[in-house]
Amino acid sequence: MFVLSTSRRHDKLYYLLYGGLRIPYRNLSKCFIVVKEMKLYHIITYMKKSLTRRDFLKLLKAAAIDLALLTVGSSGYGLLIAPAQVKIESVRLKLGRLSPAFHGLRIAQVSDIHMGGWMNAERFQHIVNLVISQQPDLLLLTGDFLLGHGFSKNSEQHLQDLINILSPLSRTIPCFATLGNHDYWTNAKAVREMLKASGIRNLTNTVFTISRDNEHLHLCGVDDVWEGEVRLEDVLSQLPDDGAAILLAHEPDFADQSAVTGRFDLQVSGHSHGGQVVLPFVGPPILPYLGQKYPSGIYEIRGMYQYTNRGVGTGRLPVRLNCPPEITIFNLEANSSI
Ligand SMILES: [Fe+2]
Repeated sequence: MFVLSTSRRHDKLYYLLYGGLRIPYRNLSKCFIVVKEMKLYHIITYMKKSLTRRDFLKLLKAAAIDLALLTVGSSGYGLLIAPAQVKIESVRLKLGRLSPAFHGLRIAQVSDIHMGGWMNAERFQHIVNLVISQQPDLLLLTGDFLLGHGFSKNSEQHLQDLINILSPLSRTIPCFATLGNHDYWTNAKAVREMLKASGIRNLTNTVFTISRDNEHLHLCGVDDVWEGEVRLEDVLSQLPDDGAAILLAHEPDFADQSAVTGRFDLQVSGHSHGGQVVLPFVGPPILPYLGQKYPSGIYEIRGMYQYTNRGVGTGRLPVRLNCPPEITIFNLEANSSI
């Protein structure tokens, strides 16, 4: 049994629990935390009268996170099993500008591989095998191939692992990609070279058009919104007036800007990981910059669909709870075909 009773030590424990995310409770004058057999119980004995409702809700939320993380840690569920339980999300989308020539097109999306964290070559090969089993016509990869900051010998091996797995895949399924913030934080140039060596078309600030029966579907991409150089005007200038257009943008909250153009039918993104930990009645307590407004699933913004994939990898904390990794399969429908 472990008991803390001072606010200073209380803060320290939270610092350890959250791996760097510190949530101080200045308004608590006395608080006991009991950890017994890896189960955590908060016993709040005294609070200052000045504790606001907002503080109290914050405390409840943090307590819920503690319980979730410690239950995860003690059972091994979140750490060892949940990140491996890939869920295939099938999404039917009727796109207004989609030609009947593309009705029934199956597009797979994989995001946030984060090779080198929880993800390794064996796990990623399993994910690619799942993608192949879905027999998609195309695969979209929406950034964050690597993890963290800086580039090392290990990073070179992680990129080689990606090339070894993605090269045979791209020979059977056309693959398209854009970069994410972690690719910039590690080495964007090396990631671009990995894409090229893997036979994957990099859509950064450009357009690739697929044609069937003289009808067109445009695949577009922008650079990473957080760290890269987004040139949406360049993309629009390359985009013909007719035909459905799908935009790859790593950060989902960019949808507010892309939707305003009125030219894209769908934006696909990753980045948020869905929050990785989703608490009942609370939702994801932690979401990244530019991944907070549209954190997971389907949205409609000014007539444009936004889809945010939860990713297949994890951030530095290899935990997922109530937020399984995801492969998305879009089944596109043309308006006039229904
Ligand atoms: Fe990510």
